Amino acid sequence: MFPNLKNQFFLDPDIIFLNHGSFGACARPIYENLLEWQSKLEEEPVKFFENTIINELKKSRMALGNYINCPSEDLVYFPNPTTAVNAVARSLKLSPGDEVLSTNHIYGALDRSWKYICDNKKANFIKAQVPFPIESKQEFLESIFKHITNKTKVIFLSHITSMTAIIFPIEEVIKFAKEKNILTIIDGAHVPGHIPLDIMKLDADIYTGACHKWMCTPKGISFLYVKKELQKNIHPLVISWGWESDNPGQSKFLDWHEWQGTRDMSAYLTIPAAVEFLNKYNWLEVGKRCQDQVIRTRNDFIDMLNISLPCPDNWLGQMASIPLPIGEADLFKNSLLEKYKIQVPVFKWEENIYLRYSIQAYNTNDDLNKLLSAVKEILS
Ligand SMILES: Cc1ncc(COP(=O)(O)O)c(C=O)c1O
Repeated sequence: MFPNLKNQFFLDPDIIFLNHGSFGACARPIYENLLEWQSKLEEEPVKFFENTIINELKKSRMALGNYINCPSEDLVYFPNPTTAVNAVARSLKLSPGDEVLSTNHIYGALDRSWKYICDNKKANFIKAQVPFPIESKQEFLESIFKHITNKTKVIFLSHITSMTAIIFPIEEVIKFAKEKNILTIIDGAHVPGHIPLDIMKLDADIYTGACHKWMCTPKGISFLYVKKELQKNIHPLVISWGWESDNPGQSKFLDWHEWQGTRDMSAYLTIPAAVEFLNKYNWLEVGKRCQDQVIRTRNDFIDMLNISLPCPDNWLGQMASIPLPIGEADLFKNSLLEKYKIQVPVFKWEENIYLRYSIQAYNTNDDLNKLLSAVKEILS
């Protein structure tokens, strides 16, 4: 589809890679930037950790803040969204009987995190059943709103869901929660670099996103945004030098979360190079073209499998999940990989088996045609 961009990635040419969604794929210039930072670190480790890193992290947060529209001092880096959400959830003051509301589309690791935390605090973890297939925003909102009570203290929502690969229309939930004084925490793991993200406009209290997925950065870069007035409540997972710091920096929030002991933070410093890469190749346009391709392929699947529309077209970004008429996921997935060289996830979610394909700049029409004909052949 974008043959000029295929050579910007390291992907094995023998594999049809339709799983950008799980772990992303790093673009060459951004990876090269990582190696430059790592070399700099090893050339003079003391200078790097004592002088360079904090200033460079600041520049990196500024580039990210510009990209997702929020103040850079309200952002801290985390290796992944699960760690960021754990820092938040473990800090919350929940009392017995308080309610945390999420949905059945929650990412599995975070489902476990919230269950653990609510069990420990004797709070109730409630999962609204958002139907899939889904036809309208109204259906989504009703499924959430009917669970809001005067005990609801937190609403935790995926912005783009993992298993069902849909963009939840979260704006009205955030607005409603604000009126009711309910904390909103948004899991935007799939969002940055995938669909436009404007943190200030969205106005959630807390937002986490991964950069190593759709921003094509090296692995291990995610961020946590917390509104200024809430930052004092979000304690670090690891208590280190930034806690009761002898040399306080710009804010406790940054002191607490930025320094977590000696570790390689070089990847965090690649964000300016990543933003430059995405702008250079007009990533919004790339995303739109991938989205058209996602919808066309989804329509081909609907015709082939004679299934109903899983969701409205504008709920899809660069991924879609298609229900398959099979009872076992692993055999199907392995057959796609071994026989057809197609890397795509096939998994059980609730009662059905789904295939979730992702489309990125390096994919071609031919990749998608091969997926469609392989699925048809295996099912026949
Ligand atoms: C919706 C969603 N949330 C969070 C994550 C983050 O996962 P991890 O922290 O394991 O990298 C993912 C990863 O795929 C995801 O799809």
